[in-house]
This record gives sequence, structure tokens and C-alpha cells, in this order.
Amino acid sequence: MSDSPRNPAEPPVPTVDVGELLPRLDRGERVLLLDVRNDEEYESWKVEPRRSVQTIHVPYFDFIEDAEGSIAKVPRDREVVVLCAQGGSSEMVVEMLGEAGIASRNIRGGMIAYGVYLEPVRVPLTDAEKKRFELWQVNRRGKACLSYVIVAGGEAVVVDPSRYVEWYESFAEARGARIARVLDTHVHADHVSGGPALARKLGVPYFVAAGAGFELRQPVTPLGDGERVRIGGAKGVDLEVRVLSTPGHTPGSTSFLVGGKYLLTGDTLFVASVGRPDLGGYAVEWGEALYDTLKRKLADLPAETVVLPAHYGSVAEIGAEGVVGGRLGELRKTVPEMSMGNAREFVEAVRRAVKDPPPAYAEIIKVNLGAEASPEKISEWELGKNQCAASARRAAGA
Ligand SMILES: [Fe+2]
Repeated sequence: MSDSPRNPAEPPVPTVDVGELLPRLDRGERVLLLDVRNDEEYESWKVEPRRSVQTIHVPYFDFIEDAEGSIAKVPRDREVVVLCAQGGSSEMVVEMLGEAGIASRNIRGGMIAYGVYLEPVRVPLTDAEKKRFELWQVNRRGKACLSYVIVAGGEAVVVDPSRYVEWYESFAEARGARIARVLDTHVHADHVSGGPALARKLGVPYFVAAGAGFELRQPVTPLGDGERVRIGGAKGVDLEVRVLSTPGHTPGSTSFLVGGKYLLTGDTLFVASVGRPDLGGYAVEWGEALYDTLKRKLADLPAETVVLPAHYGSVAEIGAEGVVGGRLGELRKTVPEMSMGNAREFVEAVRRAVKDPPPAYAEIIKVNLGAEASPEKISEWELGKNQCAASARRAAGA
């Protein structure tokens, strides 16, 4: 990373927070994104607004070596925001641009801030459902990770939280609810779960199933296949969450059916693909289990079931209302892996569709099973977008 210290005695440069900027980029406002990270950082991870944004990439070292030439590359016909890895070198560039008469703002915290930013989006419910509960999809845009907060009768259940546990506490509080339970759909490989820490802090039950072959060292309150948990029952507005064992992406993968209709699938089924079954090194065995889950286990659920996954592959999967989700009946037709005729064809297709997982995935799995790691290491492992999907469509180049 190329962040340089700046003299604290100098006046601060204008800044913009990710939470202010991203919705503006999503709306397609006229902004130039000047990315000053090095080539490798730029190639491996980019800001992805819902509408395309004009971006130029001029590394910070180019500004140092040839300030005039680099400044000349910056168009002057629109607002300029400057991005780097952590917000340090971009701050210097904002200053240089200012001296050259170009007003710009520094994206505070850079890609690190983008990677931790959480955007809550309300899942649309029917009028009858709205009277009983709220369902929030929390989009971690930088990683394309989704967590959920279900609120009913003054209680909240948090599913697949990221490790920024205070965010969920304040969010539930603002919705007038007390977090009563924390659930993980599976032992995640792309991000460190905030589930154990959140549950421990609040003294509430936590659940995740690791499945056979894994030694889970987190204390959990077990939930069996088909078991039901209630939210908000004490205040008379109860909501049922049904636990469904859906192995394949991992042997312990679990889905949660909220209010009989909203299926939080984790990495079992996405909106445009399925979860990759190869992350444990058992692509055939877990792939066959995933085929069985998709074809048999989910077969009983009605077509109107709304699938709400833990990830997405591209911002194109974010729907008009800002929610990543799809009707199960539709996904049965549109997700290619859902219509494959047999387990062998399915396993071959998902194996072809995946590249080697990032090396950090093995480390993240260990932490989610209960191993210790420093926050610095975790931040380093979590850099970049998730790679949890196996998409035959993408492998085919479509
Ligand atoms: Fe996963």
C-alpha cells in the first residue's frame, strides 16, 4: 500500500464518505472517480456502483514522478473524487489537484472503508406481513456479502453478520428491537463471521453447523433440521423461522425459512448461480450433496418462495428495489445449475466454473471454526470481493 503521511498542521482536504458517495454513484450522478492505487491493487478489486461511473486510473507514483502530466489526465468537466487503498495517498493527490485549481474530494478510508461499508435495504413485504415483521437485507457492497436482520415484536434475529457487530446492535436498537438470537448459514470462507462475537457480547444463543469432518470450537445452541424458532412471541407478534439443513456448499450449510416464504439460503443458491462446493477439497462429494439439496430438498418449497442469498456476483443482481433476491420458481428456470439432469453433469459443470479459491479462504475458515487471529490479519484476508459462486453461465462466457 502506498499511503504517505501528511503534515497534520496543514488544513484538512475535503473528504467524502463511502456512505454518501455510493448512493450518488448508484443514481448515476456525474462524478469522476480517480483511482490512484497501484496497478495490481486496481486490477484485483474495484468500486462497483449500480450504474457505471467514469473512472480513470493514475497511480499515486505517477503523480509523484510527473505531477503535471498526471494532473493533465484529469478531466475538468465534472466533480472529482479520489480513491486509494486507505485514504492516505489519495489525500495527497486531492491536495496536488487543489494547487492546480481542480477541486476534488478524498474518499475517506479508501478501499478499506468501501470493504466494510454496510447498506441496509428493506425487503418488500405484503401488507399483512408488514404488520407482523420487518426483514432487512444488509449489503456489504465492497465484498458483495449479504446479512439479514429480522425484526418482530421487539425482538431481532441477525443472520450471517459481518464482524462489525456494533453496527447490528445500533441498527436493531434504532428499529426498537433487542437482538435475541444470532444465526450463521454456514462456516464462511470469504469473511470472518461476527456471529460468535455478537452472540457472546449480548449473551444470546448462536447457531452454526459445521458438519461432519470439522471441529467447531465456537459454543453453539444446536438447531435440528425442520426445527422452528420463534421471534417476538412474548409480545404477541410472533414469527416463525424454520431451519432447513441444505448441505453442499459446506456439509453443515443451513437455510432459514422466515414467515413461511423468505428463504435465507446462505451460499446454497444465489440469484444467478449456486454456491461452489469445492472449498473444502471435496468437490465431488459436496457437489453431489448440493445437487440433492437443490433438486430434492428445495423441491417441496412453493414457487413463490423468495430466495435471499448471502452473496451476489455482480451489481446486476441487485433488483430495482435495491434487494438481491428472486422467486424460487423463476430461479428453477433461469439458474443453469438448477435444471441439470443428473448429479454427475452438475458436479462437472460446477468444477469447470470455479477457479482455485484465494489462499486466505483456508485461514478464514479456521477463524470461523474458532481459531484466533489478529484484526490486522483478518482485514488483509478479507480484502477483495467474495469468490463463493460457481456459475456455469459465467464459465461459458455469457
Ligand atoms: Fe460461503
